[in-house]
Amino acid sequence: MRLPIATPKTGLRVLKGLARDHSLLTAMSIMRDEVGPAFQITLPGFQPAVMVGPNSNRQIMVSQSQHFHWRSPADPVTKLLRHGLLVEDGESHAARRAEMEPLMQKRHVMFHIPAMQTYTDRVLADWRDGSVQDMLVEMRRAALLVFMGTLLDVEFGPDMERMWQPILRAIKYISPGLWIVWPDMPRPGYKKALAAMDEYLFGIIRERKLSIANGQLPIANDLLTHLASLPHMTDDLIRDQLLTMLIAGHDTSTALLAWALHLLGKHPEAMAQAVAEVDAVVGQDDLSEAHMSQLPYLDSLIKETLRLYPPIHVGNRIVATDTAVSGYQLKAGTRVMASIYLSHRDGRYWEAPNEFRPERFERGAKKPPAFTYIPFGGGARACIGAAFAQVEAKVVLARILQQFELQDVGRKVKPYMGATLEPRPGVFLRVRRRQQ
Ligand code: HEM
Repeated sequence: MRLPIATPKTGLRVLKGLARDHSLLTAMSIMRDEVGPAFQITLPGFQPAVMVGPNSNRQIMVSQSQHFHWRSPADPVTKLLRHGLLVEDGESHAARRAEMEPLMQKRHVMFHIPAMQTYTDRVLADWRDGSVQDMLVEMRRAALLVFMGTLLDVEFGPDMERMWQPILRAIKYISPGLWIVWPDMPRPGYKKALAAMDEYLFGIIRERKLSIANGQLPIANDLLTHLASLPHMTDDLIRDQLLTMLIAGHDTSTALLAWALHLLGKHPEAMAQAVAEVDAVVGQDDLSEAHMSQLPYLDSLIKETLRLYPPIHVGNRIVATDTAVSGYQLKAGTRVMASIYLSHRDGRYWEAPNEFRPERFERGAKKPPAFTYIPFGGGARACIGAAFAQVEAKVVLARILQQFELQDVGRKVKPYMGATLEPRPGVFLRVRRRQQ
């Protein structure tokens, strides 16, 4: 079977949607509704196969994954991350994964809870009582401090201001843009920022190697020390993994936390329930490993946020050898987009798919088929940071709710397709310190 394309009528509606929302998500939602769960986009220079639903997801990510590779060398993600885990294929992918996976397992992540709490508190200490805070910015501050402090054991506070713009530029560099249809387009304005990122990363690698050589770090509890201790890892290869983990590991958490706070701000009944749970279970105590399994409402809230606004909203692949997915022929070289966003809002599997209902994820609630809900992907390329991200989200949210009342100030928010699906222009909440 060949993939269906839009009729002229649907095409017109797609164009109108694009003009209204400036968002490919709107265009893809119209195509999904009018053409079906598998379709081909036919824009000049951009003709990906878009696949939606559990069967396609499973085939692309697991059962047919040998027919796909990840990105082309011309892709800015490849240019920036070079040999990072996210862009490697085949044996080198498996090798990078095996090196880092042990430190990303849940039991190891739990060890970071106290530090996650300390870094969150550092951000919250700057919130003036009664002020309006942009949670998109604040959660990026928290996610950066947490990522660097726990997974790399690097105190990022003193460098945050200096590195803020270079990090945002690196993210912009890999965000969707005209380069998709014009891979060799000139991209001025990034050189200085990307050089600053490299200088910073090579600096922390050098320092850590020195500490290892001086025998100051007997146990490798963090990724940087671990990677720097492996004899075959060159500085370049370590830099590629650090930059990969830094971008993949904080931009996603930033989006998740900002969306969760946005949804809480818009749904006072959910806010009340989340606060009641944190008060009853944690009170004013420090967060601990034991609390992680005792906050089911927060858990459902995080899961529902990831369903509605999956920070990584699509699994991008290139067909390596001709294959078929859900019965549709895909030729080598075709760009395939497994749409996580559309799968999460597929009316065949979700009741009222566009509504915010954390109770869908309550214990005992009916579950959709496997591979319908895939915020962290699946198969060999599933997110290596899934456990870290979920523990981090719970710690940061619980800590905020312990200390502050949050109130939505009524600014409109739209999903923006950057490197992640972000709430733009930001999530503006008034914060009031709770009486202790
Ligand atoms: C809410 C937070 C996060 C979400 C929603 C998320 C989502 C995802 C998804 C969907 C994929 C698979 C993409 C695909 O199949 O094309 C992925 C892969 C990946 N994620 Fe995450 N992620 C999150 C947090 C993190 C964190 C905290 C880290 C690291 C500290 C991380 C590092 C990675 C890496 C390195 C990969 C590539 C894995 C591979 O190809 O083997 N992510 N993530």
